[in-house]
Parts: sequence; structure tokens; C-alpha cells
Amino acid sequence: MKAIVIGATGTLGSAVVNKLEESGYQVTGASRSSDASVNIEDEDSVKALLDHTGKVDAIVCAAGTAAFGELDKLTDKEFDLSYKNKLMGQIKLLQKGLSYLNPGGTILLTGGIFAYKPMPGSAAIAMVNAALEGFVRAAALETDNRKKVIVIHPPLVAETAEKMGLDPAPFLTAREVSDAYLEAIKNGKSGVPFFAKNNTP
Ligand SMILES: NC(=O)c1ccc[n+]([C@@H]2O[C@H](COP(=O)([O-])OP(=O)(O)OC[C@H]3O[C@@H](n4cnc5c(N)ncnc54)[C@H](OP(=O)(O)O)[C@@H]3O)[C@@H](O)[C@H]2O)c1
Repeated sequence: MKAIVIGATGTLGSAVVNKLEESGYQVTGASRSSDASVNIEDEDSVKALLDHTGKVDAIVCAAGTAAFGELDKLTDKEFDLSYKNKLMGQIKLLQKGLSYLNPGGTILLTGGIFAYKPMPGSAAIAMVNAALEGFVRAAALETDNRKKVIVIHPPLVAETAEKMGLDPAPFLTAREVSDAYLEAIKNGKSGVPFFAKNNTP
């Protein structure tokens, strides 16, 4: 089985690549700086990646930037970035990716638990995560029923918490959260958001 993971060099993406490879997938890991280069903001580069890999059984996006910032300081530019990158980048990937998916395959986009459990500073991110969920829920109604489209809402992972200056101890690691990515691909239901273990809303 073949998979594409976009954001493959990142905290979550690299763990997802490892997890899928361990379970037998042949993975094309992509990002702006990878050999298989892609920029999710650029439709032509997404198409070039999909043309290069051909039909696959899973397309995972663990890339997408949205702005973290206090409500009264979030700028139009930060909202635009959040919209164009994490939201529309993944929406376009799903639109284009469906025809490159084998029957039985899954497109898995990444939202985040801030859609359900926000913290101060997460308004733009929570907005994008919730919008992704609404989009995927509706997109599933128009998707060939042999293919699945799912948004996963990972929790804040230990590695990222540490970078934010928080104690990483209470958080799942990216490797632990990558189990949920594999589980979503295998057993997730199209249009139904997926959560990591013990991190349901
Ligand atoms: N980490 C967490 O705790 C957490 C929790 C919930 C949700 N999330 C979400 O999960 C996703 C990944 O988070 P992360 O923490 O793993 O991020 P990360 O460590 O910053 O990694 C981001 C990855 O995406 C790639 N990338 C960035 N911009 C891209 C673009 N325009 N086109 C293609 N690839 C791009 C990066 O590589 P290049 O720079 O080479 O392109 C890198 O591989 C994000 O959407 C984030 O909001 C993260």
C-alpha cells in the first residue's frame, strides 16, 4: 500500500511517516524542503506531487500554518495566512487528491483539538480547525463511498508543548498521537472527525 504524507519533516508528520512505514506502507514524505517538494498553498505544486506519486491508498496532511495570537492583536495578515495555508491548502488538497485515491483509500486532514478545547490565543487556529471539520463532514456526502475523507483533531503534543515552555509530562508524544492517524486511516468513518485516545472533546 502507498501513502503520501505532507508535512513529513514536522513534529507530527515525521511520526506519522514512521508509523505508516512500520505498518507496511510505502510512504512518499513531502514538504517544501523535501525531495518530494510541495507547497500546499500552491495548487500546481500539489498537482505535481500527486502526478508524480500516482494512485495511492492514503493521503495525509500534517502541514498547515495558522496564527497563534491574542484576539485583540490578531492582524488581517495573520487571519489571511491561517485561511490560505492551513484551511484552503488542505481543502484544495482534498479536492485534487480524491481522484488519486484508490478505492478503499483515505484522505486525512489535520485540524486540532483547539476546535473543541480552545485556549487564550487560539482563536484563529480554532476557527480553521472547526471550518475543516465542517468542510470534511459535507465533502463526505459527495465522495465516492469507496473512499474516506476524515479530519483528525490531534491534541497539543509533548514536543510542541515543550517548545511553548510548558511541562511536556502531561501530554501525549507525537509518536503516541501517530497511532490515531493510523487508526483513522484503517477504521475511521468518512466525514466523522477523529480524535487521539483519551483526547475526545
Ligand atoms: N504539534 C501539535 O501539538 C499540534 C497539535 C494539534 C494540531 N497540530 C497541527 O498539526 C499540523 C502539523 O503540526 P506540527 O507541529 O507537526 O508542525 P511542524 O513541526 O511545524 O511541521 C510542519 C510541517 O509542515 C511542512 N510545511 C510547512 N508549511 C508547508 C507548506 N506550505 N506546504 C507543505 N508543507 C509545509 C514543514 O516542512 P517544510 O518547512 O519543509 O515545508 C513540516 O514538515 C499543523 O496543522 C498544526 O496546526 C499540531
